[in-house]
Amino acid sequence: MEEELIKKIKQKKEFSMLPEKDVELVFEKINTPFRTDEEKIKMTRDLLRKIYTVFLSNKLLKIKRKNFYWFLKKHLSTRERFPYYSELYRKIIGNSGEKIKIYDLGCGINGFSFPFFKKEGFNVEYVGVEAVGQLVDLQKSFFKNSKKVSFFHESLFDINKIDEIVKKGKGTKIVFLFKVIDSLEVLERNYSKKFLTHLTPLVDKVVLSFATRSIQSKKKFFANRKWIRDFISDNFNLVEEFDLGGENYIIFSEKDL
Ligand SMILES: C[S@@+](CC[C@H](N)C(=O)[O-])C[C@H]1O[C@@H](n2cnc3c(N)ncnc32)[C@H](O)[C@@H]1O
Repeated sequence: MEEELIKKIKQKKEFSMLPEKDVELVFEKINTPFRTDEEKIKMTRDLLRKIYTVFLSNKLLKIKRKNFYWFLKKHLSTRERFPYYSELYRKIIGNSGEKIKIYDLGCGINGFSFPFFKKEGFNVEYVGVEAVGQLVDLQKSFFKNSKKVSFFHESLFDINKIDEIVKKGKGTKIVFLFKVIDSLEVLERNYSKKFLTHLTPLVDKVVLSFATRSIQSKKKFFANRKWIRDFISDNFNLVEEFDLGGENYIIFSEKDL
């Protein structure tokens, strides 16, 4: 019965390429006995849209050959960051070493910002991980001739898969988790703590970001996210924290022994 409903939910094209696990997690949140099947379908789709596909516009997917910058400006999340990419990547990478491996988890279309690494003279290998299959395909086809850019269609809830991806490869490893932690928390409270505890020792540094103003209305909002700040300062080595273009970034690494 539940399988049938999940199948129905995924019949909408927008959700057809989401990992089964993520659709199930959202469905579980909604699946209470007092709701009708129609309500469950509608409410699950509404929450899926909020977490995963709100930025997925038809325009973004239909256009075949535009340049990287065109894509970055079409997605609400990267559009805001656009004027700051060079400064941001300089701040994050600085003098981290010769060969950098970036794992961008819940990347959306941030893979299109790859040219900014090159522009700043960094030798970066970029790996994007994203649950929305359409966004993965779009970027894969764009970068099909580049050996330095790759994408995985996976869920961040599949910790074994993420572990496998991050363990592969050599160089200075940096994880990006830009504007994605809140989505994980909606579905599983404290999952981000579990995730960071597992992941941080595997890499040289982790960069978390949060929006500090509403993407739609541009209004500044106050959300200091004390829980995650406390968790980071108690468990990791806080490297740097800064605001840039409506986004707050926290850089940290494993605690020195
Ligand atoms: C607000 S967007 C941010 C995109 C990108 N990190 C950026 O800042 O440009 C959040 C992205 O995380 C993805 N996402 C959310 N939960 C995820 C999960 N459990 N596994 C993989 N991707 C996820 C969404 O599909 C969406 O593309």
